[in-house]
Amino acid sequence: MVNKIKTCVFISGRGSNFLSILKYSRDYNFPIKIELVISNNIKAKGLIYANKYGIPFKFFSSSNQKNFERNCLKEIKKRKIKFICLAGFMKILSNNFINSFRNRIINIHPSLLPKFKGLNTHKRVLNTKDKYSGCTVHFVNSKLDSGKIILQKKVSIDKNETKKSLQEKILKQEHKLYPQSIISIFK
Ligand code: GRF
Repeated sequence: MVNKIKTCVFISGRGSNFLSILKYSRDYNFPIKIELVISNNIKAKGLIYANKYGIPFKFFSSSNQKNFERNCLKEIKKRKIKFICLAGFMKILSNNFINSFRNRIINIHPSLLPKFKGLNTHKRVLNTKDKYSGCTVHFVNSKLDSGKIILQKKVSIDKNETKKSLQEKILKQEHKLYPQSIISIFK
């Protein structure tokens, strides 16, 4: 694909979803190209991947949200970024920021939304009698984990499921669901 959509991935930690999207994006027909990674955590492992694979990356502190978003917007404009993927980004963006990228910011969440929005998802799921959990890719709007759902993947919860085993099982699915969702948006 010649005109891939210039994309920025926001991370805060491990960066495994970023890495997965990056790998898929090498396919000629994949609709986006990651041209920037932004982290609000200087120690994010994902930054090591960005460095390894030659993707431009920036760390901006998010202790002051206004400054953080100003820095992001400046960099995003400079690089003509048109699409944003949040992948384990642990900061809530302001309405102002979200509105300036309306329908162009997506996120992945490790539950079957609208169930279990917010943090500590797997622990909360296991405290219920639910037989299934999963992951969701959705557009970002002004309410936490509440934007329009793009794709979901269901996984079953086994009898002896632990937080760790559920997290690993779902993460495996996330790595496929996120790229598939990007494809489905732009097809
Ligand atoms: C994933 O489980 C994602 O669903 C959630 O944060 C985690 C990020 O993992 N939003 P990684 O940084 O992509 O490895």
